[in-house]
Amino acid sequence: MLLHGLFVYIYLFSFAKGGIYTAMAIPRDFINELVARTDIVDLIDAKVPLKKAGKNHSACCPFHSEKSPSFTVSRDKQFYHCFGCGAHGNAIDFVMEYDRLDFVDAVEDLAGRLGVDVPREQGTGKRKDEGLSRDLYQLMEESSLFFQKQLRQHTDKQKVLDYLSHRGLSDEVIDHFNIGFAPDGWDGLLSRYRQNQESQDKLLTAGMVIENDSGKRYDRFRDRLMFPIRDRRGRVIGFGGRVLGDGTPKYLNSPETPIFHKGYELYGLYELKQRHRDPQQILIVEGYMDVVALAQFGVDYGVASLGTSTTAEQFQLLLRSAKEVICCYDGDRAGTEAAWRALETALPLIKPGDQVKFMFLPEGEDPDSLIRQIGKEKFEQSIGIAKSLPDFLFETLATRHGTDKGTLAKQAMALIEKVQDTVLQSLLLENLAYKLGMNSAEELKRKLGFNVKSQSKSLQSKALKGRGTPLRLAIALLVQHPHLGNELPEQRALKHIKMTGIELLILLLDRTRADNITSAQLLEQFRGDDQLGTLKKLTQWDHQVADENLQQEFKKALVWLNNQYIEQRYQELSLKQHHTKEERMQLKKLIAVMQGQT
Ligand code: UTP
Ligand code: MN
Repeated sequence: MLLHGLFVYIYLFSFAKGGIYTAMAIPRDFINELVARTDIVDLIDAKVPLKKAGKNHSACCPFHSEKSPSFTVSRDKQFYHCFGCGAHGNAIDFVMEYDRLDFVDAVEDLAGRLGVDVPREQGTGKRKDEGLSRDLYQLMEESSLFFQKQLRQHTDKQKVLDYLSHRGLSDEVIDHFNIGFAPDGWDGLLSRYRQNQESQDKLLTAGMVIENDSGKRYDRFRDRLMFPIRDRRGRVIGFGGRVLGDGTPKYLNSPETPIFHKGYELYGLYELKQRHRDPQQILIVEGYMDVVALAQFGVDYGVASLGTSTTAEQFQLLLRSAKEVICCYDGDRAGTEAAWRALETALPLIKPGDQVKFMFLPEGEDPDSLIRQIGKEKFEQSIGIAKSLPDFLFETLATRHGTDKGTLAKQAMALIEKVQDTVLQSLLLENLAYKLGMNSAEELKRKLGFNVKSQSKSLQSKALKGRGTPLRLAIALLVQHPHLGNELPEQRALKHIKMTGIELLILLLDRTRADNITSAQLLEQFRGDDQLGTLKKLTQWDHQVADENLQQEFKKALVWLNNQYIEQRYQELSLKQHHTKEERMQLKKLIAVMQGQT
């Protein structure tokens, strides 16, 4: 988002030059048109329900954890902005950040909503791999259709249909998940592209075909039941293939390819969204069959991680799709361990209002076998009594460490420190204090030296870099690393921002521009000044920005501040009845900037 945002600010920032997206092959006019035709309030409201608040709409920010709404969306300006974390941008930025798509995919996504195709400019600047990806998607879709057709037409189809009926899958659910059949033989799929060497090469890239040491190529999936894996936009990106019986491996999966990254995808998420635009809860299970069987019996809100433990990216995706995520595991030891790994992964990602729960199945059962035995109603009852995260956390620690309260406390604290959601964090602390026989969380914090600063940062939302406002961050970075200010062009817009503390930043920028000074020298210049106290504090402040990101984060903070100027100036001018010629021009320019039409 911010990189795209930078593009808009080229005229304000000489250091932001480079036109990050100028090399893109989508015509600029089309992008402008897209932004103009998309209504940002509708777009965001569908994902983050908004409340009308005066001229704007607001909600709790989806990009950082907060209790009261500081995220606002303006229909007039077609812009969103969070006063808490500084996230801001237009419709494209929002889709990029929220759905974690890159620029081109975000544009395609918005175009798709409007039902228009994205035009491409000829020649220069085309993303190197873009043509390739497009063909890969097409080949995967064709493969999926081929497998589905085999299920209905192939001479061996009867044994597959028998297997399906033995597994109890209905026609409807087979259709819904586009389940197919890869016939036995070395080139059922490959031979369809006999005449086309290029497509054959791409089948290899897409993981549908394997090449042996002597260069001979053959189908990866043979004599298997095929589950197509779709991305969030419904494109087939990989397959899971099950043997029709007891062979090994039981499941063969697509390898990592340019379009398939299994840690980022969830089997069944697209199909779930087809049924529920806004699901209340999502159940994570282990297997393809589980997702499919659950859906058949009406629990059509299950997804599966793809053969690995659930990753942070997958949790993030889930928590954006639903407020409640229930992780479902076998009741055995391996299941409990997998659940614990999931808990550790999820802890730093939970936002206020999110619920992550843990459900354990009777030993020897999986969701597929269980729902067939007990039916939807009873199955949902057991979802209803899934363990809350705090319960699961403390029960597991108690089982592991028993009466060794010291170790238990240490382990618990290490986990609690990772929690970003302050409500959940206090709840866990209270709970731990109680378990340790202390009077309050305060006492606990004092005794154990609870250190909020050491919260894990790598998993936070990209928008939430460091704590405090961007202004505070900019000042702290500059005081601690004065070289950041060296040779920076004068930030004229800053002078016009109405914000407490901005003068201090301007002063620091002036002091660090020409001279190569150290933090100590800089502080010395403030001796006797009222602001020295503040500066000293900020010198000690742990800004949590890694060394290699200093420059980038500092620039981002400045971009954010400049954006404040743009917003404020726009507000000012738009309220005026009459404008001078300069003001009119400035207003026009501001609107263009805000709409990303530089
Ligand atoms: P399970 O072995 O639990 O299979 O694997 P299942 O889902 O119950 O399947 P059925 O009921 O026997 O048909 C769970 C998941 O682990 C991955 C697959 O994603 C599977 O859905 N897996 C399992 C593999 O990738 N390869 C394997 O050989 C086995
Ligand atoms: Mn099973």
